[in-house]
Amino acid sequence: MDYDITDIELASSGRKRIEWAGLEMRVLESIRKRFEATKPLKGTRIGACLHVTSETANLAITLKAGGAEVFLCASNPLSTQDDVAASLVRDFGISVFARKGEDGETYYQHIESVLSREPVVTMDDGADLITTFHRKYEERAKRVLVGTEETTTGVIRLKSMEKMGVLLYPVIAVNDAYSKHLFDNRYGTGQSTLDGIIRATNLLLAGRVLVVFGYGMCGKGISSRAKGMGSNVIVVEVDSLKALEAVMDGFEVMSSLEAARRGDIFITATGDKHVIRREHFDLMKDRAVVCNSGHFDVEIDIPALESMCESRIRIREHVEEFRLSDGRRVYLLGEGRLVNLAAAEGHPACVMDLSFSNQALSVEYALSNSNDLERKVYRVPADIDSEIARLKLETLGIEIDQLTPEQKDYLESWTLGT
Ligand code: ADE
Repeated sequence: MDYDITDIELASSGRKRIEWAGLEMRVLESIRKRFEATKPLKGTRIGACLHVTSETANLAITLKAGGAEVFLCASNPLSTQDDVAASLVRDFGISVFARKGEDGETYYQHIESVLSREPVVTMDDGADLITTFHRKYEERAKRVLVGTEETTTGVIRLKSMEKMGVLLYPVIAVNDAYSKHLFDNRYGTGQSTLDGIIRATNLLLAGRVLVVFGYGMCGKGISSRAKGMGSNVIVVEVDSLKALEAVMDGFEVMSSLEAARRGDIFITATGDKHVIRREHFDLMKDRAVVCNSGHFDVEIDIPALESMCESRIRIREHVEEFRLSDGRRVYLLGEGRLVNLAAAEGHPACVMDLSFSNQALSVEYALSNSNDLERKVYRVPADIDSEIARLKLETLGIEIDQLTPEQKDYLESWTLGT
């Protein structure tokens, strides 16, 4: 078996982590048991470009249990858990191409390694695998049956490919399932972003002014959790409806320039480029902390910050100090990459259970319906979405009511009024 990882000797620690995460992934476990018995993915080559974490390991093991051959590379150079990668190779026979801290060239070589196995299913978190496939290996890409996409940024890229008429195979937007983005983006990003900031800096959040850029599901999760920890939260948002929602949720909303003057800690979660740039750094207080929770490392204009500083030094493992010419210091966390995965462990397993159950069931669904799918971006079918929520409630031991026949009739009728 082919692989490229940091150190196979780390496998024993990785295995324990995979098992620990698995305890919180009970929906995925039930899917795995069914897959083991029925082998719905038999003989399917799956190329996956995901964060190589203990949660992803549980997904890869589930896909293999369903009969698939899995080739895994990282969707971010900093998020790989090297011990998990080692255990996947040694204990589970899964080909992994990922090393924590790999440079840009190695990152893309690893994507190439996965593509060279000619997968017929692709799984992405940010669309780097599928876009490389389209750009460099069009003929091979045409033979792919289906792809899936885990995150908002990736779905945006894929919808743009569909609109331009260049998408070569159908893709399921796992991110857009309710049982994914209402939970993973909000509770997962919310908690793990603060976890990353705390692990990187050990700063107290209570009493600090924390500025959140973007009030999508991720921004909402970060804001409400930070408020719960005693921060004074300011939201910066360009969409009037979302900005109004933030106001009604009790947050201060203001322009980015005003927020730049007021903030102690800045977090970007927008999916867009240069959200924090020179004009903001110009206004920040001494010792401002900036970090990113959006998919790519483009939200903070790091080249601008570099050009403004007299020195750049590493202070702690995930903290770099930029000393500006007027003496002010700006601290950048995790090189501007996803702080929750660079400095912490990403979303907790309990919530990745929902996201990765969507992945597993979407692949199963797409393979058995591949003849009916066109070169488009599809939502996860509604029945899969609600079944995952039902199973999660069941694993949590929570029972919910059902409508009575009378209530069903009432909802279906238009004749009953005042
Ligand atoms: N994305 C965010 N958190 C993650 C995790 N723990 N594993 C895989 N992908 C993630």
